[in-house]
Amino acid sequence: MNRKYRKTVIAGNWKMNMLASEIKPFMEQLKAELPKTRTCEMVLCTPAVMIPAMIKAGKDCKVAAGGQDVSKYAKGAYTGEISASQLADIGAKYCIVGHSERRQYHGEDDMLINAKVKALIDQGIIPIICVGESLEQREMDLTMEYVAYQVKAALSGVDAAKLRRCVIAYEPIWAIGTGKTATAEQAQEVCQGIRAVIRGIYGARPARAVSILYGGSMNAKNAAELLAQPDIDGGLIGGASLKPADFATIIKATDQE
Ligand code: 13P
Repeated sequence: MNRKYRKTVIAGNWKMNMLASEIKPFMEQLKAELPKTRTCEMVLCTPAVMIPAMIKAGKDCKVAAGGQDVSKYAKGAYTGEISASQLADIGAKYCIVGHSERRQYHGEDDMLINAKVKALIDQGIIPIICVGESLEQREMDLTMEYVAYQVKAALSGVDAAKLRRCVIAYEPIWAIGTGKTATAEQAQEVCQGIRAVIRGIYGARPARAVSILYGGSMNAKNAAELLAQPDIDGGLIGGASLKPADFATIIKATDQE
């Protein structure tokens, strides 16, 4: 983290878990565990139907609500889709885009992800742009080339002023839901590389200001070490964000120099 230049963000990705009726007890437990003062932005990305309940329950502990996906279209005959304006209208402040599960199970490519990033920015929603390599790509030593390509494609046509409204999340696919975390050195190396890619496109100042998160089996035990890395500005957390005590421990881990 480097709080002088950028905000720390701890975002939970609930994926397709939990029920709206479980949010209130979850938030009550979380609130009891949270420190009085917090040095990070806290976000919970739920299925879209649960966003209003999250906003209601999260109000007094300042949790921002986020979506997990968005349509690239503004409106119209796209059955089953949710537009950025609809997410903004119900109060979503963030939205995950390009998660590897969507790339893998829904065939999302980098062009589509770029269109979704722009749709969100247009509506004032902060995209959490996910990038990350597969195990095969890592073993072939292609990690940085591949991640650089993903970052460039996602941000194509996004100007520097709009970049300030974006968050990047580095999530190596092999670390997601596997319990196999990237080491702090591996995660730092790629997050630093992502910042260098952004510096190449936008220059030093915007690169210094963009928050880059790590995701992939981040938990109550390993969060502090990951967050101590200079280019890791927070976390995108799956499994551990479903447990209030663990999520609170990760939030507390941001309180370090
Ligand atoms: P896990 O924390 O469960 O590995 O999930 C990470 C993730 O995919 C967050 O988007």
